[in-house]
Amino acid sequence: MRILVTGKNGQLGRSIHKLVNTDTKIDNNQSSNEFIFVGREELDLSSEGGISHYFDNNDKFDIIINCAAYTQVDKAEQEVELANQINHLAVKQLASIASKQQARLIHISTDYVFDGEGDKPYMEIDKTNPINVYGKTKLAGEKALQAVMPMNAIIIRTSWLYSEYGNNFVKTMLKLGKERDELNVVSDQIGSPTYATDLAGAILEIIKNKEFREEGRATQVYHYSNEGEISWYEFAQEIFKIAKIDCKVGPITTQQYPTPAKRPRNTIMSTGKIAETFSVNIPDWGSSLNTCIALLYKKKS
Ligand SMILES: NC(=O)c1ccc[n+]([C@@H]2O[C@H](COP(=O)([O-])OP(=O)(O)OC[C@H]3O[C@@H](n4cnc5c(N)ncnc54)[C@H](OP(=O)(O)O)[C@@H]3O)[C@@H](O)[C@H]2O)c1
Repeated sequence: MRILVTGKNGQLGRSIHKLVNTDTKIDNNQSSNEFIFVGREELDLSSEGGISHYFDNNDKFDIIINCAAYTQVDKAEQEVELANQINHLAVKQLASIASKQQARLIHISTDYVFDGEGDKPYMEIDKTNPINVYGKTKLAGEKALQAVMPMNAIIIRTSWLYSEYGNNFVKTMLKLGKERDELNVVSDQIGSPTYATDLAGAILEIIKNKEFREEGRATQVYHYSNEGEISWYEFAQEIFKIAKIDCKVGPITTQQYPTPAKRPRNTIMSTGKIAETFSVNIPDWGSSLNTCIALLYKKKS
């Protein structure tokens, strides 16, 4: 099995890399898998030509896992065309290539396809209505993928991703908490934090699963986030508690913290479908946050 993973320098790409070891066996016939991790240097999703060039010059893949994306939510409000190219048009092209190669495609999407106005956990079939450019381009990517590849693909929507790698809320809070005595954090946006290693583990479980590898299986959307719900304000408090950082956190409203892109108010997603279909592990956000912070401190010492 040749498995291509895009976005090798991103949080999820690096988390998959961390979990993969050369002995990973996906099927029962003892054949080992070859994981190929690529970043924008090898496979630049910002141009149609760059994408074609990469696939024209490489052997076929059995599975493509697309972890690359334009993820700068605020900047996307200005860089609409680039965000659309990476999150929408490149996904359409990847789906078309995967289809031609008879490869399975796993594509990652976001809770920001929802407007956040609901008051119960979003199901996969619930109405989407993105309220910012990033969410709109990600939804356009989902729809294009489904049109081009009605079979053999899955879309996993995740939320509030953090990890030991790159920039994320947990790392920002750890840094700011050490620099300041007090910090105000938005308390009227709620969701479920997701540790990228947990999502990476779920993806590796899925590719081992017979259900996923069945030929001609209809393309499906799934939700994956850690279990439980929280506001950014409570999340910051918990980060400081675990890391034993003495920084007072004050709650503020979204209105008091204006950003270029609007954020949905409540994006808690129901994760029952992915758990039932693939029996993946979904730890609660608190235990995974402890794991990530412990690793961050270990890395430093
Ligand atoms: N982060 C979140 O809170 C969050 C929430 C919900 C859903 N998601 C989704 O989860 C997935 C993984 O997110 P993440 O947090 O791992 O993202 P990330 O850390 O921002 O990584 C994204 C990767 O995409 C790469 N990329 C950007 N432009 C590219 C281009 N033109 N060509 C090739 N690669 C390019 C980046 O490369 P460079 O390293 O070279 O810049 C980066 O390594 C994405 O689909 C994202 O939309 C994320």
